[in-house]
Amino acid sequence: MKAAVLHEVGGVPRYEDFPDPVPAAGEVVVKVRAVAVENVDKAIVAGTHYTAARYLGELPMIPCFDGIGELPDGRLVGFGNLRPPYGALAELAVVPDGGFAPVPDGIDPEFATVLGSAITGMAMRTAGGLAPGETVLIQGATGVAGRLAVQVARLLGAGRIVATGRDDARLAALGADAVINTAVPDDELAEAYLAARGDGYDVVMDYLWGRPTEILLRALTPDSFGFHKPTRVVQAGESAGPALTLPAATLRTSGVELFGAARGLRESLGEVYAQVVDWARSGDLVFAVERARLSDIETAWRRTDLHGRRLVVVF
Ligand SMILES: NC(=O)c1ccc[n+]([C@@H]2O[C@H](COP(=O)([O-])OP(=O)(O)OC[C@H]3O[C@@H](n4cnc5c(N)ncnc54)[C@H](OP(=O)(O)O)[C@@H]3O)[C@@H](O)[C@H]2O)c1
Repeated sequence: MKAAVLHEVGGVPRYEDFPDPVPAAGEVVVKVRAVAVENVDKAIVAGTHYTAARYLGELPMIPCFDGIGELPDGRLVGFGNLRPPYGALAELAVVPDGGFAPVPDGIDPEFATVLGSAITGMAMRTAGGLAPGETVLIQGATGVAGRLAVQVARLLGAGRIVATGRDDARLAALGADAVINTAVPDDELAEAYLAARGDGYDVVMDYLWGRPTEILLRALTPDSFGFHKPTRVVQAGESAGPALTLPAATLRTSGVELFGAARGLRESLGEVYAQVVDWARSGDLVFAVERARLSDIETAWRRTDLHGRRLVVVF
């Protein structure tokens, strides 16, 4: 079969021949239809993601760990949990029984590849406890996940949405109630976070971490004792950096509470998934795709000009 093949950690996958997967007992071979290439896939290939060792143990390997494909009986499914060195960026993928779920009617394969990012946006409620009328700050709102999160916040009834990014024109196009450009000096950014907070941020959906989030948390640390209104920060990504310095005072009396995006998701996944599918069907959730053919993977993989569009390899 043809596949995107990675030969070295930190390299770029190449369009090459790769042996067809031979299914073991309890596995099925899926004909791949669409695969989204996300930051997490690039971080795994670079060896910098915390799950990288699981995927890079055997080289050459095929990147991307989930996608949309066709079962031998023609059913369209979302699949994952692949057996390395096989990945999703190939004509065929080998999937364990239970490693796939039907794509709902009315959802095209390309949109299906992005449902996961919309589900992560729902963490503002499942992890952050967002209630209608509350104020949400979305860090990294000009990216694919952030743009979906702005829409999810609106659909969940957020009272006020503040969005951050690095490009004024793209920030203005988001339809947020206030925007903050993070590409400014530290003090200016801290001021901007305070100026835009209104009565306070109830929930922060954080796709950035690193410098902007460090400045945000510092800005939210009060200069007085007291019982300050909670700000529930939901950590969902690390586009601006994998680490930050967290002074003890950030948490002690500020009201800042930190949660991972997976909090509460296990219990609510069915309901969250159904909600996202409903919004997708009705056109309430929209996103932009940049399509590429598998044969162009080397060029597509290197692209840095997608600006809020998801790279989806279509077969
Ligand atoms: N946990 C999950 O299930 C899940 C799901 C989806 C995404 N994520 C994670 O969330 C993050 C965003 O994903 P994405 O797909 O939305 O990525 P994306 O489309 O590349 O967007 C990245 C966002 O971060 C901003 N950004 C990038 N580098 C920055 C820097 N150095 N300083 C400040 N801002 C920066 C971008 O601003 P510009 O627009 O100006 O470039 C954009 O707003 C990634 O870490 C991804 O792995 C997690």
